[in-house]
Amino acid sequence: MTILITGGAGFIGSNFAIDWLASNDERIVNLDKLTYAGNLENLQSLEGDDRHQFVHGDIGDAGLVGRLLQEHHPRAIINFAAESHVDRSIEGPEEFINTNVVGTSRLLQVSRKYWEGLGEDARSAFRFVHISTDEVYGSLGAGDPAFTELNRYEPNSPYSASKAASDHMIRAYFHTYGFPVVTTNCSNNYGPYQFPEKLIPLIIHNAIAGKDLPIYGDGQQIRDWLFVSDHCSAIRRVLEEGTLGEVYNIGGLNEKPNIEIVHTLCAILDELHPNVDGRSHTSQIVFVKDRPGHDRRYAVDASKIDRELGWKPAMTFEEGIRKTVEWYLANPKWVENITSGEYRQWVQRQYS
Ligand code: NAD
Ligand code: DAU
Repeated sequence: MTILITGGAGFIGSNFAIDWLASNDERIVNLDKLTYAGNLENLQSLEGDDRHQFVHGDIGDAGLVGRLLQEHHPRAIINFAAESHVDRSIEGPEEFINTNVVGTSRLLQVSRKYWEGLGEDARSAFRFVHISTDEVYGSLGAGDPAFTELNRYEPNSPYSASKAASDHMIRAYFHTYGFPVVTTNCSNNYGPYQFPEKLIPLIIHNAIAGKDLPIYGDGQQIRDWLFVSDHCSAIRRVLEEGTLGEVYNIGGLNEKPNIEIVHTLCAILDELHPNVDGRSHTSQIVFVKDRPGHDRRYAVDASKIDRELGWKPAMTFEEGIRKTVEWYLANPKWVENITSGEYRQWVQRQYS
C-alpha cells in the first residue's frame, strides 16, 4: 500500500513523512516543487529508505500527477503543498493563487479521474485529505469563542483567502462528484524543520546570531500553538477514521500573545545559549511596523476531533518549545544552509 503526499519537503510534510515511516511500513510517494520553503535536507533521515520516494514536481502539473497516480496506485493523497507565509502573500499574492488555488484544483481534477477509474473496493477505501488552516475563519476579538467548524469563512490575507478558495473546491468536489475528501483546519505549528521566516524559528535564529528580534505592532496578537508532531498524529487519525466530506479543526489548546512567545524563547536561550556579554536575549527585542491587516487573535475549538476521533495534543507547550530550541541549537548546519541565498534577500526586503 502507498500514500501520496504533496509538499512533503516543507515543514509539516517532512515531519509527517518521518513520523509516518517511524511507525508504519506503508510507502510514501512525496511530490514537492522544492520552492524556497522546500528542502531535501528535511528528508535526509529517510535517504536510502525505499519506503520513501521523492518526486520533484508541481501539484499543478496534471500530466505528472496523472502518471504518478497510475504508477503508484496510492490508496490516499494528503495535500500539504502550498505557499504558506502570510507576509510573502502580502508582498506578492500571485504565487499563492497559482499553487493554493489553481494547483490544488488541478490536483483535485486529476485525483478524481484516477479515483473514478479504481475498482469498487479501492474506490470506497480511497481518501483525499486536504491540509488547511484556522486563518480561513478570520480574526477573533478578545472575548470571542474559539473557531468551530461552523464558523463563517472570513479570510483576511491573500494567503488565507487562497487557502479558503482551495477549501471551497474540496467541499465542491465532495458535494458534486462524491469525491472522498476530508479537510483539516489547524492552528500555528512549531517544531523542527520550520523555515526561519516564521515567528518561532526566526526569533531563535536571530537571537543566536545577535540580531534584532522583530515584533510586529504591539506584540499582543494571539495565536494557538501546536507542536508539529501533534498535528501529524491528528492527520493520521483523520486519514484513518475521518468522516467523508467533514471538516476537523485541530488546535493546541494553547493561546499565547506573540510577546509572551518571544519572552519564553529568550528565557530558554538565556539558559542554553547565553549572550557572551551576559545581556539577556530580551535586550534584542525591537517593535517594528505592523503586518498590514494583521489578524488579532486565532483560537481553535478542537472538541470535534477529540469527541469523534479521540485526538488531543500530547505535547505540552513548555516541553515542545524547549525541544524546538534544542533542535535548532543542535542543527546549526541545517540553519546555515537554509538561511543563505533567497532567505537573505527576503529578510532584507521584509525587515529593512
Ligand atoms: P511550508 O511552506 O514549510 O512547505 C510547503 C511545501 O510545499 C514546500 O516544500 C514547497 O516546496 C511545497 N510546494 C509549494 N508549492 C508547490 C507546488 N505547486 N507543488 C508541489 N509542492 C509545492 O509549509 P508548511 O508550514 O509545512 O505547511 C504545510 C501545509 O499546512 C500548508 O498547506 C499550510 O497552509 C498548512 N498549515 C500550516 C500551518 C503552520 O503553522 N505552518 C498551520 C496550519 C496549516
Ligand atoms: O494559523 C495557522 C497559520 O500559522 C498557518 O496557516 C500559516 O501557514 C503559518 O505561517 C502561520 O501563520 P502566522 O501568520 O500566524 O505565522 P507567523 O509565524 O508568520 O507569525 C506568527 C505571529 O507572529 C503573527 O501574529 C505575526 C507575528 N510576527 C511574525 C514574524 C515573522 C512578528 O511579530 N514578527 C515576525 O518577524
